[in-house]
Amino acid sequence: MYPVGYLWCIVAEWLHAQKSYITAEMRILGIETSCDDSAVCIIDASGHDVSDFKFRVLGNALSSQAAAHAPYGGVFPNLARSEHQKNLVPLLARVIHESKPENQGPSSIIEVETILAREQELSKQLLEFLKTHEKPDVDTIAVTVGPGLEPALWVGINFAKALAHAWQIPIVPVNHMEGHMIISTMYISGDRNSRYRELRSPDITGQLATFTFPTLALLISGAHTELILSREWMQYEYIGRTRDDAVGEAFDKVARMLSLGYPGGPEISRLALDARKYGLRKSIFLPRPMIREKNYDFSFAGLKTAVLKMVETNAPVTLEFKKQLAREFEDAVTDVLEDKTMRAVETFGIKTLVIGGGVSANRHIRSEFAAACEKTGTVLLIPPPEFATDNALMIALAGYFRARAGQFSVPDKLRANGSLKLGEGEEMPA
Ligand code: KG4
Ligand code: ZN
Repeated sequence: MYPVGYLWCIVAEWLHAQKSYITAEMRILGIETSCDDSAVCIIDASGHDVSDFKFRVLGNALSSQAAAHAPYGGVFPNLARSEHQKNLVPLLARVIHESKPENQGPSSIIEVETILAREQELSKQLLEFLKTHEKPDVDTIAVTVGPGLEPALWVGINFAKALAHAWQIPIVPVNHMEGHMIISTMYISGDRNSRYRELRSPDITGQLATFTFPTLALLISGAHTELILSREWMQYEYIGRTRDDAVGEAFDKVARMLSLGYPGGPEISRLALDARKYGLRKSIFLPRPMIREKNYDFSFAGLKTAVLKMVETNAPVTLEFKKQLAREFEDAVTDVLEDKTMRAVETFGIKTLVIGGGVSANRHIRSEFAAACEKTGTVLLIPPPEFATDNALMIALAGYFRARAGQFSVPDKLRANGSLKLGEGEEMPA
């Protein structure tokens, strides 16, 4: 008798050689654990090329760890790791239940224990789950392999490996930032203003938005601030990035200085909105770092220090002061992002601006960019706020395109890469 792992390697190699699993229609299970959101999603996607691509969400679930990390004012990697271990199986069960799949036969649980030897909690739950649930109707698993916090990424990767063994299906590694970018290019549910949280998963459908290349992507999240030029689909050229703090990180740190909750972005945005709504007179002025420099790099560390000085000088700060400061901080960030990005749009003859990442949920940033793009006649693609922050739909979507390109990974070769770049680590091109 051959051990199952050995047979699985042969199967994976064979699948790779045959590419028989690249079908026009695929059911993808997306798994996201790069930071402090555990998320799982199943989509049904089809399309021979990007022009006829369409998808339907069959099940989608997310568990935010924000409350667990709040006392630390940021994400604590080992806590993220243990929270992911607790969350993944219940999320998977929920998503499978929601997708009401036709079951496809028993799972093979041999080897799951070995794969999850370092994830005891997850191993216990998954073994129990596999004994009581048949294999769902899923063709491929898409999992985030980077960038992100490596201890957190590994939980998702090992989970994906265990499921791939149990269900004998292949894995596609996904770059988290590509996920953000791809979900921004989707026209979701035909109505960009609907509240997706109120929709049942099967009511969420989508297709690629209409746009032309070259595109410029401004990716703004908790760990990234970068400008990326694409001359064609899934091809990337970095043209600018932050030299220190990411813009989301700056929002989080400023929120902490003002004793606001975590994550800080939505808190700052709420206070800033109040200041705008009630027309509070502007009495605070912050720098716009690097705005005059003729490059496309950013720096937010100095801005954060300027806020800290202001808070110290005016301690104890009143709520009115916090609102003023939140607005000025949001204005300063938006001015710098907009100035640099729109200059790049002009210089590179950009037709389409794509904005993605958690900070793209910010109302002020959204409306300022909408106005700027209208002025220049640039198509603006920005995800609905519900899908701007981390989720597993974006991973399943990017996974579909990577799977169609034949970029599967032999499970044993999958690795977490905390600083993965776009276009790096693409495996097994078709
Ligand atoms: O993409 P994301 O969910 O996770 C990472 O990949 O980092 O982004 C999280 C970041 C956090 O820094 C959070 O404060 C910020 O996005 N964020 C916002 C808003 N919502 C989330 N920043 C500004 N305004 C918001 N409304
Ligand atoms: Zn993200």
